Amino acid sequence: MAATWIAGGTVVTEEGRRRADLLVRDGVVAAVGLSLDVPAGAARIDAGGCLVMPGGIDPHTHMQLPTMGTVVADDFASGTAAAAAGGTTTILDFVGPERGQSPVEALDTWRGWASRSTIDYGFHMTVSWWGPGFSAEMARLVQAHGVTSFKFFLAYKGGLMLSDEEIVKGFLRCRELGALPQVHAENGELIAHLQAKLLAEGRTGPVAHALSRPPELEGEATLRAVTMAETVGVPLYVVHVSAAQAARAIGEARSRGVKIVGETLPGFLAIDDSVYASPDFDQAAGHVMSPPYRPKGHLEALWRALESGALSTTGTDHCCFTREQKRAGLERFTLIPNGCGGVEDRLHVLWQLGVNGGRITPEKFVSLTSGNAARAFHLWPRKGSLAVGSDADVLVLDPTREKTLSARTQHQRTDFSVWEGRTVKGVVVHTLSRGRHIWADGDLRAEPGWGRFLPRRPFGPVYERLV
Ligand code: URP
Ligand code: ZN
Ligand code: ZN
Repeated sequence: MAATWIAGGTVVTEEGRRRADLLVRDGVVAAVGLSLDVPAGAARIDAGGCLVMPGGIDPHTHMQLPTMGTVVADDFASGTAAAAAGGTTTILDFVGPERGQSPVEALDTWRGWASRSTIDYGFHMTVSWWGPGFSAEMARLVQAHGVTSFKFFLAYKGGLMLSDEEIVKGFLRCRELGALPQVHAENGELIAHLQAKLLAEGRTGPVAHALSRPPELEGEATLRAVTMAETVGVPLYVVHVSAAQAARAIGEARSRGVKIVGETLPGFLAIDDSVYASPDFDQAAGHVMSPPYRPKGHLEALWRALESGALSTTGTDHCCFTREQKRAGLERFTLIPNGCGGVEDRLHVLWQLGVNGGRITPEKFVSLTSGNAARAFHLWPRKGSLAVGSDADVLVLDPTREKTLSARTQHQRTDFSVWEGRTVKGVVVHTLSRGRHIWADGDLRAEPGWGRFLPRRPFGPVYERLV
């Protein structure tokens, strides 16, 4: 592959920022500095006045996922192209075996779908059922397939939810294998109780979705998961933290020295639960996800947790549906497909709210959008870094450019956006994936099949250095 010279920009990494050019050759970072020895014929990208950063890693996506009687709107080709347009160059997606299905077989299916990905990708495995068969295959997943993280559900009674006994067994198995357990932490038993109560009272609309999943239930389940992990002696990754109580439980555990990583989503930092009160069903249902958006006070608590390090990664939980798909729940909130989009928007929103808002530095922005996830999931320094030899996954952000986010202009394959009408200042103008220029100032050149599978190593002492 020909070389590319990213010239005139300010390179921002977790360590600091400096005026420097970046030379990319054979898909990796070949040099960073001034007065580089640029080969004749190298393509030149003008980064004057712009910031050059590692491409984003979204550790939490659901492309092509079959769920709640439908399939999410973005497949691996469309969803990852949208990601590229927003500066994200790696996703970690969740494989979802059916109940009783071999997880290795499910991985095969997901790998087939993901072969159309336009950016690099790895997988987490959803522990959608538990038994000796699942436990046995976990070893193959970790040792032969590079799938080293497993998501356990404390919610979705009658579906994905596992008992505490099963979760403890699963955590022990993760520990044995050097795998990282992840949790969806909401109290499924109490959610089922509240759902039945609300429906019996005739509360069938989207407002009841949030009422059935109060923040206390996330706090309780998070503390329970943390306690189980701490007792068993395994690290833990808590996905999509939305409630102050959950962030507090994680922060307290971290200050006791427990190896635990908390992930939040830009939506939870900016959108509150008033969205469910909209009289327009499409608006309210478009925001239905689990956990739900929270009352305003939680947003501030999550920002503080990001600032203190209690929370240390950001994902999107990209799981988008069209308005039509959400209408499956017109008569009953429990039938609204759960999930929102955002893989294209994460970096723009975090830059606007975090950096422009004076909450985080550009260096911390890099940690929160790529570096910390790379370390948590053993992708660092190949990903999340611009060191010489790292994959040339690069974004160029123009901090002076503005754009207004909208479903009409997004590349995500849905007619809804939780960010509709929000203007951000700081726009990704170029994205490179392993040196290939896939987003060039509005020109989306992402190509299905370019993305490569990222097998990951199990955890060992390296985990000591976790974010
Ligand atoms: O509502 C959500 N978050 N849907 C995606 C699945 C999950 O729990 O992450
Ligand atoms: Zn979840
Ligand atoms: Zn998810």
